[in-house]
Amino acid sequence: MQIQWYPGHMTKAKRQMQEDIKLIDLIIELLDARAPLASRNPDIDELGKNKYRLILMNKADLSDEEKNREWSSFFREKGYAVVSLDARSRAGMKQITSVIMEVCKEKIERDRKRGIINRPVRAMVVGIPNVGKSTFINSYAGRACTKTGNKPGVTKGKQWIRLNKNVELLDTPGILWPKFEDQNVGLFLAFLGSINDEILNKDELAVELIERIRRDYPGMLTSRYQSEESQFSEEGPASFVLLGIARARKCVAKGGEPDYAKAAVLFLDEFRSGRLGRITLENVLIEKQNEG
Ligand code: G4P
Repeated sequence: MQIQWYPGHMTKAKRQMQEDIKLIDLIIELLDARAPLASRNPDIDELGKNKYRLILMNKADLSDEEKNREWSSFFREKGYAVVSLDARSRAGMKQITSVIMEVCKEKIERDRKRGIINRPVRAMVVGIPNVGKSTFINSYAGRACTKTGNKPGVTKGKQWIRLNKNVELLDTPGILWPKFEDQNVGLFLAFLGSINDEILNKDELAVELIERIRRDYPGMLTSRYQSEESQFSEEGPASFVLLGIARARKCVAKGGEPDYAKAAVLFLDEFRSGRLGRITLENVLIEKQNEG
């Protein structure tokens, strides 16, 4: 399936990020735990060299717990600090500040030796669209935060959110662009609903997703769509499986034919909302093989 990209404001966003990165100590990078590689752009490694790094594997409530652990180890082995997170829950936020302090302990120690005590770590949230940056900032900052921009002595035009005495956050996140050149990335982001899928053929998208889910999570589709009234099989061509979903969910077009388009939308929605089950689309082992 060909996915067309419209890069638009990429260059401007990149320039803005280069400027913002100069002001901070730590990059907090959000990715979608259901597709940890497709939902990140490795350019951030170049843009953010010499900065401390924390990866938040967000939407971990929707992804496979075992694979969350595998991907966390994968990134830790590459030198990132990693936390799995559901940004919508305040509960998960408790640990973040202590992880930030741990990640930046060299800087804090360096400051201390120079007699600078309690200078907060300055951080910036980055990620591709829809990974949950705004949700995270709102949830982490909560109501307790105070905006510290536009006061004497504070860089004009920049709004900082003072989270506590230890951490300040730039209040606008940095928007990274997906890896447009990789068609697979486009496909994964379309599955997740992270790109505008109005331009996509949803039947084809659903069929591609069925292929992957039945391969990686055998039995999951059956347990969702099998019922006493409707026999369902995950075997055979994936388009037949979509037909089975149409039957199971009584998606019928005029004239009594199964309504594929409606079934496709329904199926994609069930996947995206997690009603199908907790699913991670990318596998660490395959990535390691690719890396050689
Ligand atoms: P962005 O700033 O990176 O573009 O993302 P944003 O915070 O707008 O979040 C995009 C969508 O993802 C929102 O859903 C948000 O609620 C959801 N989301 C963010 N973090 C998590 C998470 O950890 N788990 C789950 N399950 N969802 C998360 P939406 O449908 O666009 O909006 P709404 O229905 O929540 O209002």
